[in-house]
Amino acid sequence: MACEIRVLVAEDDVGTHDEWRESLTAWGYRPEVAEDGVRALEMVETFHPQIVLADLRMPRKNGLELITDIRELGISVPIIMISGQGDIPDAVEAIKLGALDYLRKPVDPPHLRQMLKQIAENIVMREENSSLKRRLAQVGELGPLFGNSLSMRKVITAIERLAQSSASVVITGESGTGKELVARTIHELSPRRGAAYVPVNCAAIPDTLMESELFGHERGAFTGADRRKEGCFEIANGGTLLLDELTEMKIELQAKLLRVIEEQKLRRVGGTSEIPIDVRVLAASNRDVEQAVRDNKLRQDLFYRLNVFNIELPPLRERIDDVPQLTQMFVQHYASQNSKQVVGLDDECLEALRAHPWPGNVRQLRNVIERAVIVCEGSSIRKRDLPEEFRAASSSDGGFVRIRLGSSLEDVEKEMISRTIEFTGGNKTRAADILGVSAKTLYNKLERFGQEH
Ligand SMILES: Nc1ncnc2c1ncn2[C@@H]1O[C@H](COP(=O)(O)OP(=O)(O)OP(=O)(O)O)[C@@H](O)[C@H]1O
Ligand SMILES: [Mg+2]
Repeated sequence: MACEIRVLVAEDDVGTHDEWRESLTAWGYRPEVAEDGVRALEMVETFHPQIVLADLRMPRKNGLELITDIRELGISVPIIMISGQGDIPDAVEAIKLGALDYLRKPVDPPHLRQMLKQIAENIVMREENSSLKRRLAQVGELGPLFGNSLSMRKVITAIERLAQSSASVVITGESGTGKELVARTIHELSPRRGAAYVPVNCAAIPDTLMESELFGHERGAFTGADRRKEGCFEIANGGTLLLDELTEMKIELQAKLLRVIEEQKLRRVGGTSEIPIDVRVLAASNRDVEQAVRDNKLRQDLFYRLNVFNIELPPLRERIDDVPQLTQMFVQHYASQNSKQVVGLDDECLEALRAHPWPGNVRQLRNVIERAVIVCEGSSIRKRDLPEEFRAASSSDGGFVRIRLGSSLEDVEKEMISRTIEFTGGNKTRAADILGVSAKTLYNKLERFGQEH
């Protein structure tokens, strides 16, 4: 990881030069050594070091002068000062002049190594970031997240900026706009990417099990708890937890959740000891979160704690400019997945897609393209490959569901639910709204019908 990072050591004790070279090379850096401040300044301009280690006392130009000159050249390389025993005031002065840190002689190698490692990681991250930015500017793409429209570019820039921190983020937007994808992307871009990303759907988990799902339980904590279980927070330790559909969580549990997030420690259900955790918490909701606070469905203190950053994903109908790029990406994906030779779609087809209101947002677009790729017979998708509602001005069944006399009420309910979900393009929250039930009730019913969601 540290390989190729250039480190310049400015040190007048020539007897230590070989030692410096050997250690730094062994740790994976590319070192150069200068014997005084003037030589060091020359090498800053020719060797372009990414880190400078400078002795405070050197002939011709001392450490403080060196820092001042480097900064005057407009070079912002991180500098670590190395000071003798009695030089602490100067070391402090060096920090004021812009040195990153100082080490006292004799230098403790493990300490220095750790310090360099941190700086190197930072450099690598910054470089990854700026190359990412260049790529973004060109194509409007962040990992699997696409969007060329102005509003999505803004979202992408925000993600990039906040990914580095551990602060909480509330992600809002209609169903199918990509909230989960955004959460995953934040995790993937963050320094936490090596640890787990754990999404929890608060609407899909019954209230009675939620606490143990989040915080885990000890053996015998309740009937059925026949063994100890780690909760999502523990699984996400060092990583990121997404609380999806947060407003569906019972208000009593929200108080506990707030405490765990604030204190970064938890107690398993039925447990006595406190377990420290380090988890970044993201929350997503397709409802108006502030309204949920006013309706007492979401605790205000929890909302404030989580809403350090807010990302609002615009619905697809407000960023129609993204349709061509998203469509093309989905065509490629499903063509290769289904071994089809489809490469794109004709103009008439694209026009029909642009004109659609997209109640189910990107998810619905994705489903439409998947189906079209499968039924398409040529190399280009045509209008006839699209579902009925794209072909005619109005839907052929006029939005009616035919029910056979002799059906049970349960069958009718099942049919109504599945047709409504189809109508909203997979948007279950909107389907629940249309059917006049809560999202949770809808999920429970789907569970009962044994449908995947
Ligand atoms: N900008 C985007 N680029 C690429 N794919 C996207 C984008 N936005 C959404 N998708 C795709 O659309 C689908 C739905 O996205 P996702 O599950 O993240 O939405 P959501 O907002 O969490 O929806 P819900 O509220 O229903 O949970 C996924 O298959 C995702 O990969
Ligand atoms: Mg989601």
